[in-house]
Amino acid sequence: MKKKVISALLSVAMVATLLVGCGSKPAEEAAAPAATEEAAPAAEAEAEAPAAESNGTKVGVAMPTKDLQRWNQDGENMKKSLEAEGYEVDLQYASNDVATQVSQIENMINGGCNVLVVASIDGSSLGDVMAKAKEAGIPVVAYDRLIMNTDAVSYYATFDNYMVGTKQGQYIVDALDLENAEGPFNMEITAGAPDDNNALYFYQGAIDVLQKYIDAGKIVIPSGQVDFATVATQSWATENAQSRMENILSSNYADGTNLDIALCSNDSTALGVENALAANYTGEYPIVTGQDCDIANVKNMIDGKQSMSIFKDTRTLAAQVVKMVGQILSGEAVDVNDTETYDNGVTVVPSYLCEPVFADINNYKELLIDSGYYTEDQLK
Ligand code: BGC
Repeated sequence: MKKKVISALLSVAMVATLLVGCGSKPAEEAAAPAATEEAAPAAEAEAEAPAAESNGTKVGVAMPTKDLQRWNQDGENMKKSLEAEGYEVDLQYASNDVATQVSQIENMINGGCNVLVVASIDGSSLGDVMAKAKEAGIPVVAYDRLIMNTDAVSYYATFDNYMVGTKQGQYIVDALDLENAEGPFNMEITAGAPDDNNALYFYQGAIDVLQKYIDAGKIVIPSGQVDFATVATQSWATENAQSRMENILSSNYADGTNLDIALCSNDSTALGVENALAANYTGEYPIVTGQDCDIANVKNMIDGKQSMSIFKDTRTLAAQVVKMVGQILSGEAVDVNDTETYDNGVTVVPSYLCEPVFADINNYKELLIDSGYYTEDQLK
């Protein structure tokens, strides 16, 4: 059932993607959230390990953008962990531009990479270059985001994306005691990028938890904007989320109506919503969800402007991918824990799903500081 809903939504999302043009350069380059400017996380320093002697194997790591804090962490962690195992690493960032990512991957193929690890910008736009990798006999691991419509992806490693959404939804249920409270509570939804396969899973996970309260009239959505295509945020850009929320606030909340819940799929969109609230809203401050525990958002959490975020420890994901790369190269069985969920339209890609956890004001110190992910100073 869950899968049927997701694949139906996926078709809608794909049509939406086609309509906006897959290969066009998104207008997000100027939209870097403040988090990008933050200092490197402590995790990077921790992950520092001397590069082992080269084992003659080269791994290409294609990352989407430096604009969001998390991809910088992912890239750095991957590079350090792979180098510590003796691999040569070609790490590239594509400024969220699909054509740039395609040519970076082509260069990796031509440059003799033995394995590719790819966090795609638009999961549906890499079919041709993936075919080239396959022709050259290069295994591909999709990193965090699934690569769609190709049989050239060998494995997928990510956090459990559906669970990210259910945790956001459950946080809202618990925070408002929706089982017992009568409501109605006003909610607005801000989802992720329509060309990122993950975005739909985040959205659907949360909606599946909240739907019964919507059906019971305990949650209402004054803007009427509910379906994924309508609430999606192109490129996950802070400024896109902000301007949409500004419009929603001025059309539906300017008369003093309270917004109780801002369900945001991740931190870059939450930041946009928080900016809009700061500029255009005078009611009681809503519950705001997020994901990634970006520094700017953790600071907002400490300041009471964001209620929670999902912590996806990029060190865990990097370590898992390095393990999978090693297993692929040595011909061992590759460690996966899900062989059903991630159908990319051509094949079900064997996946390893890491478990995300929620962070809020009560547990962020333990999760983020005690674990060495950030220093206390970085959050000041
Ligand atoms: C990732 C999220 C991230 C979003 C925007 C998603 O694919 O899973 O962690 O917030 O992209 O970069």
